[in-house]
Amino acid sequence: MRTVLVTGVKGQLGSRLMENVSQDNVRIVGLDKDELDITSPQSISDAMKTCEPDVVINAAAYTAVDRAEEESDRAYAINAEGPRLLAESCARHDVDLIHISTDYVFDGEQDRPYLPSDAPNPKGVYADSKRAGELALEATAGLRWWVIRVAWLCDTRGQNFMQTMLRLGQSGKALRVVHDQHGVPTFARPFAEALLKLAAQPERVPAGIWHYGHQGPTTWFGFAQAIFELNGIDVELSQCTTAEYPTPAKRPAYSYLEGKTFSDLLQLPHVNWKEVLKRELELG
Ligand SMILES: NC(=O)c1ccc[n+]([C@@H]2O[C@H](COP(=O)([O-])OP(=O)(O)OC[C@H]3O[C@@H](n4cnc5c(N)ncnc54)[C@H](OP(=O)(O)O)[C@@H]3O)[C@@H](O)[C@H]2O)c1
Repeated sequence: MRTVLVTGVKGQLGSRLMENVSQDNVRIVGLDKDELDITSPQSISDAMKTCEPDVVINAAAYTAVDRAEEESDRAYAINAEGPRLLAESCARHDVDLIHISTDYVFDGEQDRPYLPSDAPNPKGVYADSKRAGELALEATAGLRWWVIRVAWLCDTRGQNFMQTMLRLGQSGKALRVVHDQHGVPTFARPFAEALLKLAAQPERVPAGIWHYGHQGPTTWFGFAQAIFELNGIDVELSQCTTAEYPTPAKRPAYSYLEGKTFSDLLQLPHVNWKEVLKRELELG
C-alpha cells in the first residue's frame, strides 16, 4: 500500500483526486492550503512528518492566468518556489513527487502535437512561473519526479470554460467564442485516475516530463458547440478571433499535447475528448 499525499485538495483537480476510489494499492491523504501551504517550509515539513507519504501529488497552484500579470510575486511563490520546496523536502525524505504543469509552457506556434521533448517558450507570468516550477524539480538532486503537463483542464462542476458556457447559454443571449485557439478539453476526473495509477505503479512510467490529454484537437468554439449540443441547449453561437477577445495574458494558439504515449504506458485508454465529455455528463 502506497500513501499518497495530495496538496491543494479544494481545487478542480485536487478534489477529483480525493474522490477517486477505484485505484487499488493507494491510501490517499489530502490537505488544503490551510493545512499544507506549499510556500511554507515549516508547513511542508509538518505535513511530511504527520502523513509519512510514499508519494506527493502536487495539485496546488496559482491558476489565475490573467491576474498573474499583476500578481507576479504570488504566482512565482506558488508555482515556482512551492514546487522547489516540495521537491527538496521529498528528496530529503526519499518520497516521489508528481507535479502538474501546463501547455502554457509552449508558445503555441507549432502545428503538430507538442511532445515533452519540444522546447518550452512560455509567454506571460503564469506560463513562466509554471515552467520555473518544472525546472525546480529537474534541478533537485536525489529526487524521483514526474511532471505531467495538461491543457484545457475542465470538469462538470466548479469554475471552468464548460461551466461558463452553460451559465451563459442558459441566459438566452447570443454568444461569440474564439475559433483560432486549438487544443483538447481534458477532464479532471480521468486525469486524476491516471495520476493515481502512476502514484500506485510508478515503475510503469520513467521519471521525467510527460503529457496527458484526450484525443483531439478542437477549438474553444468546437468545445462550446459540443457542450450545447450534448446538453440540449439552443444557443445562437458564432465564431470570433483571439484578437477580437483580448486578455491580459497571451494564450497559445496551438496547445494540443501528445497524450497517447503516457496513457499507453499506464495501460489507460486514449479516447476522443467528445466521448469523454459525453461520459462525464452522464456521470455528473
Ligand atoms: N485549470 C486549467 O485550465 C489548467 C490547464 C492546464 C494546467 N493546469 C494545471 O493543473 C493543475 C491543477 O489545476 P486546477 O484547475 O485544479 O487549479 P485550481 O482549481 O486553481 O486549484 C489549485 C488549488 O491550489 C490551492 N493553492 C493555492 N495556493 C496554495 C498554497 N500556497 N498551498 C497549497 N495550496 C494552494 C488553491 O487554493 P485557492 O484557490 O484558495 O488559492 C486551489 O485550491 C495546476 O498545476 C494547473 O497549473 C490547469
